[in-house]
Amino acid sequence: MDTQSGNRDVYTVIDEDNIAWLHFDKQDASTNVLSAAVLEAFHEELLELVERAPRGLVILSDKSNGFIAGADVKEFIHLDNHGEALSAIQRGQEVFDRLAALPFPTVAMIHGFCLGGGLELALACRYRLARDDQGTRLGLPEVRLGIHPGFGGTVRLPPLVGALPAMDLILSGRTVSARAAKRMGVVDHAVPERHLKTAARAVILQPPFRHHPTKLQALGNHAWVRPLLAKLFQRQVGKKARRDHYPAPYAVIDIWQRHADNERTMMHAEAESEAELIVSAGAQNLIRVFLLQEQLKALGRASDFKADRVHVIGAGVMGGDIAAWCAYRGMQVTLADQSPERIAASMKRAHELFKRRLKAARPIQEAMDRLMPDHQGMGVERADVVIEAIFEDADAKRSLYQQLEPRMHADALLATNTSSIPLQELRSALSDPARLVGLHFFNPVAKMQLVEIVRDDDTDAAVVANAIAFTRKIDRLPLPVASTPGFLVNRILMPYLLEAVELEDEGVPAAEIDRQALEFGMPMGPIELADTVGLDICLHVAEILGQRLGTSVPGRLRDLVNRGRLGRKSGEGFYRYKKGKAIKSGMPRGHRPASDVSDRMMLRMLNEVVSCLQDGVVENADHLDAGMVYGTGFAPFRGGPLRYIETEGADSLLERLKALEERLGSRFKPASGWAKLSGSKDQSTGNG
Ligand code: NAI
Repeated sequence: MDTQSGNRDVYTVIDEDNIAWLHFDKQDASTNVLSAAVLEAFHEELLELVERAPRGLVILSDKSNGFIAGADVKEFIHLDNHGEALSAIQRGQEVFDRLAALPFPTVAMIHGFCLGGGLELALACRYRLARDDQGTRLGLPEVRLGIHPGFGGTVRLPPLVGALPAMDLILSGRTVSARAAKRMGVVDHAVPERHLKTAARAVILQPPFRHHPTKLQALGNHAWVRPLLAKLFQRQVGKKARRDHYPAPYAVIDIWQRHADNERTMMHAEAESEAELIVSAGAQNLIRVFLLQEQLKALGRASDFKADRVHVIGAGVMGGDIAAWCAYRGMQVTLADQSPERIAASMKRAHELFKRRLKAARPIQEAMDRLMPDHQGMGVERADVVIEAIFEDADAKRSLYQQLEPRMHADALLATNTSSIPLQELRSALSDPARLVGLHFFNPVAKMQLVEIVRDDDTDAAVVANAIAFTRKIDRLPLPVASTPGFLVNRILMPYLLEAVELEDEGVPAAEIDRQALEFGMPMGPIELADTVGLDICLHVAEILGQRLGTSVPGRLRDLVNRGRLGRKSGEGFYRYKKGKAIKSGMPRGHRPASDVSDRMMLRMLNEVVSCLQDGVVENADHLDAGMVYGTGFAPFRGGPLRYIETEGADSLLERLKALEERLGSRFKPASGWAKLSGSKDQSTGNG
């Protein structure tokens, strides 16, 4: 007879072979996370087990989506000070130490997500088995939140698999499949689902030797080798993240280099460092950004819209890539264009995307099979979603809708990818005008997670909910925005780019302008970004926005476009390009950069941020910050532009803006919304 103990989040069943099966099943949650309460419940169970002395312990999850997805990130934002953080972390270490010290064999039986604290728990077991399928992902993604593993992960992983694979996992934060984890030595076996329980039982009944790295792998942890490898790791991390912006991976390298010979001192150093990081502004902001992302994802739950068939019209830069992305995400896609050559070129690009992402021949072929060239537009009748991505011309779009609407089924979604035409101007051609919604993708589609969901008062709310649900289905982040000029992202980005062009025109070297933006934390400088987007496209957007928002377009931009210098695609823009890479000359001798370069760019951006919030372009401040981080890469460790305003103080930024207005003119005129932000911290981001 089985016997059972435990509470509802964690419980144990002892079977007839005296094997204990400890289940994680966090109540009222779809995913297991290690909240403080769950951790305590787990600890209670471990104490019980010591008393009961079973033959062995198997730890598993009752959730269909996975084992344990990590610690409860929401609890991190309530940690106020180093001391509080340190005791929470040390408690986690203590519980996992107890697990590691159990006197009988222990097995983590992993399926689905096994991340962060979940993997650290598994690492404290003697053995790990992982279900061998697409859904199983293992990893230590903490560095992405500005922290590092704190429950012994940095201590246990390097001796288990060797320094190179261990540091690769910890420093990149990437996740791996069950098979890759087996190759690295992170799990002992990758097992098909039907054999998983039998395999776990077999390990308990006849415990095999525990995994050890090869001699060569183990060498990396040797005291003589560590200083050399540490330099290598620092260089690798340095290519992706600066120490001043993202200190967590550097801290891991330091801890490992100093303490890898002594488990106890390393545990202590891990906890100290983690406690320091977790309460730092950078980590708190990154955690905020993670939670903002969750917020946008949750918007998709409002509708159960079923979308399997997508029809895209316009196989240009955007339409071709949107179609390819939808096929990559499992949709049946038809792609139409008036020009068969454009469709052929898009098919070729799609193949490259599938090759890059899917690697193996069969899934690549399956994705190609899902993407159908459709010159005649036969896919319209059967489509659940029709996306229009033809030229930016209101007449052309309207006449297309007139042809499309009678052929579409009544509840199919009709979306436009327009970047500047108000929905009001487009929907007049429809017999059901409320059905038109904007799905504004960004270029390149495969890289840019954000999609602006454009709507106005006349858009049917159910249509908006369906557009959001569809966006989630293709794994993009939906951001509802008002159908006003430039929507959110382009409207805010444009003044920043144009100010960079003004600075360049005044003689500040392009490379210096870009360097200062990188120093602020932007992923790419504005000058290189303008070149990458294409100066003709920038000019077009600037002209439209200029008309509607009353900003002027720098003559320098027009001049470059007239001379055919369109940016990266023409080989020359602000920079010259060699094999697609910008040639950036060093700073001229004796050049002293002006002190206000960064301020001029950032304050124009922030002023537009405040103006968008005031105009209600997005629902709230959280959406604005999320949109800017995911739509422009706005320095994630700063938590979004409104969080940045809060941190710097609205009053002092406003003073600087006014000084610039006095000196340089009306383009720096403060938006009226600053008054609301000034003096109060909490109003600015809404969620603290
Ligand atoms: P594009 O010029 O690369 O492609 C447009 C395609 O539409 C061409 O292949 C053309 O043959 C086809 N086309 C035109 N009229 C058609 C019709 N009546 N029936 C079938 N096919 C037709 O344009 P791009 O850059 O892809 O832009 C498309 C839309 O996406 C525009 O509304 C643009 O504002 C918007 N957009 C563009 C972005 C960009 O970075 N290029 C970013 C976000 C939105």
